[in-house]
Amino acid sequence: MRTLIQGGTVVTATDTFAADVVVEQGKIAALLRDASTLTGSFDETIDARGQYVFPGGIDAHTHLDMPFGGTTSSDDFETGTRAAACGGTTTVIDFAIQQKGSSLKAALDTWHAKAEGKATADYAFHMIATDVPPPVLSEMADVVREGVTSFKLFMAYPGVLLLDDQSIFRAMLRAGELDALICMHAETGLPIDVLVERALAAGHTAPIYHALTRPEVAEATGTERAIALAEMANVPVYIVHLSAQRALERVMEARDRGLPAYAETCPQYLFFSEDDLRGTPEDEFEGAKFVCTPPLRPKHHHDHLWRGLANYDLQVVSTDHCPFCMKDQKELGRGNFAKIPNGMPGVETRLYLLWEAVREGKLSMNRFVEISSTAPAKIFGLYPRKGTLAIGADADVVVWDPEKRHTISAKTLHMRVDYSPLEGRQFVGAPSLVMQRGRTLVKDGTFLGKAGQGQFLRCGTFSL
Ligand code: URP
Ligand code: ZN
Ligand code: ZN
Repeated sequence: MRTLIQGGTVVTATDTFAADVVVEQGKIAALLRDASTLTGSFDETIDARGQYVFPGGIDAHTHLDMPFGGTTSSDDFETGTRAAACGGTTTVIDFAIQQKGSSLKAALDTWHAKAEGKATADYAFHMIATDVPPPVLSEMADVVREGVTSFKLFMAYPGVLLLDDQSIFRAMLRAGELDALICMHAETGLPIDVLVERALAAGHTAPIYHALTRPEVAEATGTERAIALAEMANVPVYIVHLSAQRALERVMEARDRGLPAYAETCPQYLFFSEDDLRGTPEDEFEGAKFVCTPPLRPKHHHDHLWRGLANYDLQVVSTDHCPFCMKDQKELGRGNFAKIPNGMPGVETRLYLLWEAVREGKLSMNRFVEISSTAPAKIFGLYPRKGTLAIGADADVVVWDPEKRHTISAKTLHMRVDYSPLEGRQFVGAPSLVMQRGRTLVKDGTFLGKAGQGQFLRCGTFSL
């Protein structure tokens, strides 16, 4: 199969140039000023005039088919990766979760079974380690050999996911031996649970109390502690879903000292705020749509996060896509905000939101590509197969129509969730074509892929 993407403007993390893109056997075969001089015919020619040509998006933080908060995230690998593809994301990195007292292998087997035969986008895994006795620490080597080279640890959710500092430190030392990367959910979780207890005892049950019981300082101290432990262990650390100014300042200080501290933020922390958690005047429980952890912050944090992205203190924007329907899922927390399953949908809309930032001059197009594709590929060991348009890379290509106008609605999005936090919002810019390893996945908004065509990707070890 030989395809020509003709007349577009190629945008990578570093360059913007007019080029025809030749795709052969699922790989980028050539980038040429004018491919009409080439001999041989093409099976398909895609007209990309007036459009941009990007590497497929990589969402380094999704939770598909994840048991959490007494229910299971509503997108599985089929619906979640289909939605990702429709929004221009061709690779997701999801989280396998170790059950306490069980092996990492069992977790990996479970997540492979969830994804195989279902995924339409390519996928890789991080491993959430919830319990790290010596046999599990030694098992980390097997997991890395299987291509799962990043481990998420939790400082929050006592009794469920939280690891104590000694366990975190042991896991970090082991990750260092294996050139694996520790990803940290950095919130000091034990006092948060006390605040939650006290709020409920005082009769505060509405969704806004999710934010009021998880203050910014809890995230700042968690981030500081994560970085300090990583410094003691002499390993890199990646802070996931960073939401707030003070946590960002802890990352900036570490980076100024030359430490290998990295961080991602998510669209919800750039485009929504604590106000959304207050719901509507008619129904405060509408705020449940915006319950995720860390919680949405007051609006003034947005500017700090945008500056962090512009100044390279934040490297990645991933979604933490963890959708729950209002009906039967978020509803579990009516009358008790602590029972609202934590998470928001976003895997399909990430690039729409980030493109809005490009249009507003907050991001260059190159930085847009970098934070949504190239940087996650590099940090998680998928580069240069993924994350760029270069000869020999997988032909995961997005042809992006910068003028396409569309209005968001849960009814027309592909995520399996009964609301959209962006309902009714108008956007300019959408993919006219999404290609995965040379095959057309989405054309003019129509999904053409098949369940099971997504491939498991083995990540390389950490090498930045
Ligand atoms: O609210 C969130 N973030 N849900 C997913 C779990 C996590 O901590 O990433
Ligand atoms: Zn987390
Ligand atoms: Zn998450």
